[in-house]
Amino acid sequence: MLQETCRVIRLERLSTDTWRLFLAAPGVAARVQAGQFVMLGLTAGYDPLLRRPFSVHFAEDGELVLYFRVVGKGTAMLATVKPGDELPLLGPLGNGFILMPAPAFVVGGGIGVAPLLLLAKELAGRDNQATAIVLAGRAAAEVAPLADSFHRWTDNLVLATDDGSSGFAGRADEALSSLNPASGSVVYACGPQPMLAAIASFCRKKRIKCQVSVESAMACGMGACLGCARPAIGGGYVHVCLDGPVFDAEALPWD
Ligand code: FES
Repeated sequence: MLQETCRVIRLERLSTDTWRLFLAAPGVAARVQAGQFVMLGLTAGYDPLLRRPFSVHFAEDGELVLYFRVVGKGTAMLATVKPGDELPLLGPLGNGFILMPAPAFVVGGGIGVAPLLLLAKELAGRDNQATAIVLAGRAAAEVAPLADSFHRWTDNLVLATDDGSSGFAGRADEALSSLNPASGSVVYACGPQPMLAAIASFCRKKRIKCQVSVESAMACGMGACLGCARPAIGGGYVHVCLDGPVFDAEALPWD
């Protein structure tokens, strides 16, 4: 884990409320693995109260890319940064996806698509290009702006929208089911809890291995505040920041 001052390269607006932030962060970009996250300070000072957790969307050539939705004061602040601004960065943190030698189905819903672009790159780099990648959202405006970036790493990109305005009309788990993954495949998923629960249930029935990146509020990102604790199978708790954010789906209760 590194603490480095990163420099804003540019900010790109993808939809009414989603953005991509490009940062010069050579230390973290060289070390990060898909599924890991960073704590990014929203001002130049190192005030931990002003740090927010973000999945790493992509990393290449010393550049780190974050994909975020404006949902409150902190992310609204982030959507106003300017090229050249310097921000404190801590990372990479947590446990990412473990790449397995099996046909890979990658599924993201909503802002949960964030870590999947780096995962798509890692799968392609291992000569194990994702068999299919599903990007699911409410409407075309949410998922279509991401398509070009993902096409770079897969020949089989499926957009799924709740309102049917682009691609498959339906939820992420329904889109995955329509692809009919065989037993022995592996599903890598990230998104809201109901989506992950549906995918975990589908994978259990089909005997498909499933890794999920779970969303959680995180204050410290390092195991100190206990704010990200959630129940584990068999009793006790796991900490999303330390034990995750990527888990084997069978390690978590979904009821
Ligand atoms: Fe503080 Fe996980 S975010 S313990």
